[in-house]
Amino acid sequence: MADGARLIPPPIAMLAELTHRCPLSCPYCSNPVDLARREAELSTEDWADVFRQAAGLGVLQVHLSGGEPASRRDLAQIVAAAREAGLYVNLITSGIGLTEERLTEIVAAGVDHIQLSVQGTRAETADRVGGYRGGFAKKMEIAEAIARAGVALTLNAVMHRHNLGELPEVFDLAERLGARRVEIACVQFQGWALENRAVLQPTRAQVDEAKDLVAEARSARAGRLVIDFVPPDYYADLPKACMGGWGSTGLNVAPDGTVLPCHAAQTIPGMRFANFRDLTLEEIWYRGPAFAAFRGTDWMPDPCRSCDRREIDFGGCRCQALAVLGDAAAPDPVCRRTEGRTRLDELLRAEGNAPDLEAARWRRIGG
Ligand code: SF4
Ligand code: FES
Repeated sequence: MADGARLIPPPIAMLAELTHRCPLSCPYCSNPVDLARREAELSTEDWADVFRQAAGLGVLQVHLSGGEPASRRDLAQIVAAAREAGLYVNLITSGIGLTEERLTEIVAAGVDHIQLSVQGTRAETADRVGGYRGGFAKKMEIAEAIARAGVALTLNAVMHRHNLGELPEVFDLAERLGARRVEIACVQFQGWALENRAVLQPTRAQVDEAKDLVAEARSARAGRLVIDFVPPDYYADLPKACMGGWGSTGLNVAPDGTVLPCHAAQTIPGMRFANFRDLTLEEIWYRGPAFAAFRGTDWMPDPCRSCDRREIDFGGCRCQALAVLGDAAAPDPVCRRTEGRTRLDELLRAEGNAPDLEAARWRRIGG
């Protein structure tokens, strides 16, 4: 390891995007518009190698995601390989494509935790958003099977203008399914979701009401249910440290082995990404140009470079700066200390009269 690399901390978490295939077609999908083809996906052995290298690098936990990870027929082997490497294994799934038999294999392979996503709490809304008739009923079956298997469960719900009204029911559903944690994330406008921003963006009134409901539910359900709530960035005044800071705590491996500093990094024009098939994870993490590009504070423009929050939020999200301002090297436009905020406010005003959900573009991927 070169001297400069010694100052870079090792990653602690990895998102393994096993496939981009997915039987659902949610309009809020944050995966790229151009998806990796099935033929380009890493093999079971490749993933086992990724996990060994990741553990050697310092990674403690892996999040198996997609697309829909259950679209990989070798999911149980992949889980076993991650466990064998000594990683804590979290499976993020829509439940579609899982059966009780497959779940039993995955549990036997050593999965530690499952995050099950729902598109709503009523079959009608959930199936409409997910674009998959009967999907909600299947999810409920799998949730019951997860409870029977005794695996720790978190319920994930992506909320937007058309389902935020169901928030109290999300808490009830989580408890009914035996989840100890619920993660409610307002849609992040990356990848495909960006095309549907005007349709999906909640109103400020909805977000304020949701915050009150979360506060009430946290106190009423304390000791039974942990509630994580991620409000929409656009209504905040200061940005979050996306990825805990670029190239500082985590990395993503895309289905074809491309190693990314964040989920949406491939949207950044001109950035070169290394592939696990060509270089080791260690070389990519410590010396890859994509990881070096926005690491730390040296790259920062004004006013970030002299700001007292520069080592708190690291200038916010690069992909959001790109999506809103067309410049990945600009401060996150959420920040009220920067000029870019004017553009974000204009955008929110322009998209205030959002069209109905029917105006959204659903994905068609296939599992
Ligand atoms: Fe963060 Fe930059 Fe805003 Fe300061 S100016 S709060 S570092 S985005
Ligand atoms: Fe890429 Fe935030 S999603 S830096």
